[in-house]
Amino acid sequence: MSEISVATAPDELLALAVRVAREAAATARRMRAEAIGDVETKSTDTDVVTAADKAVERQVVEALLAERPGDGVLGEEYGDSAEVAPGAIRWILDPIDGTVNYLYGLPQYAVSLAAERDGEVVAGVVVNAATGDEWTATRGGGAWRAGRRLSGSVRTTLDQSLVGTGFGYDARRRAHQGAVLAGLITRVRDIRRFGAAALDLCMAAEGLLDAYFEKGLNAWDHAAGGLIAAEAGLTVAGLAGAPASRTMLVAAPPALFPALHDVLVELDAAGGP
Ligand code: IPD
Repeated sequence: MSEISVATAPDELLALAVRVAREAAATARRMRAEAIGDVETKSTDTDVVTAADKAVERQVVEALLAERPGDGVLGEEYGDSAEVAPGAIRWILDPIDGTVNYLYGLPQYAVSLAAERDGEVVAGVVVNAATGDEWTATRGGGAWRAGRRLSGSVRTTLDQSLVGTGFGYDARRRAHQGAVLAGLITRVRDIRRFGAAALDLCMAAEGLLDAYFEKGLNAWDHAAGGLIAAEAGLTVAGLAGAPASRTMLVAAPPALFPALHDVLVELDAAGGP
């Protein structure tokens, strides 16, 4: 029987997270390949995505708890396990972020896995399951992709910035988000909507987007990507001094954050349903 590890050093948590997330990404990719016939008929859209979401989540939870039975898990499908004791680790998992892309075969869907201790994310990995691209971070240890340390965009003015965002699933929320976008699009270089918040945050960490914002994200959408962006030097926060939350998450280099923040406040981006 293998030895049960209870290490809580961010590096060790990250090593486990990377191993488990890679295996999960392989499962997501394989399940999509196997279900491609169903996907194309469109009659079983939801079934295909739900089955893959559930299978990937189950695999990750089992792998984590096999090595670390005392940890908690918060997952999109699984929900929240019992409250964790002070100092214990809670894993935050999105088995497939970018489920609509997954359905269509757009290569922009990811496994997002983060380790949180005492309410603070200490390690995180995002694996693009379609391409194998991988972003990691540990708190205080920087953000990395393919052996390269990430440092975000050097852009300082909003009108020259490429800004990523996303939309919720609820039509009333989308109406408000659309109005915000209409106000923003004339004040930035352009807008991108790729459809996977975890990857959006990694792209901002890498400087492929100058900044990113979204209202309505769940913890599993941004736990890993938020740490990766923050460790790349970006400010990751809500509006008016609030921490990033379901109400609003903005990720931007410190020099750009105030300008984007102020426009989002003016446009009431955190408001609406
Ligand atoms: C969604 C994606 C999308 C974002 C939505 C999320 P899901 O997650 O991250 O980009 O705009 O807010 O709900 O449903 O694909 O896991």
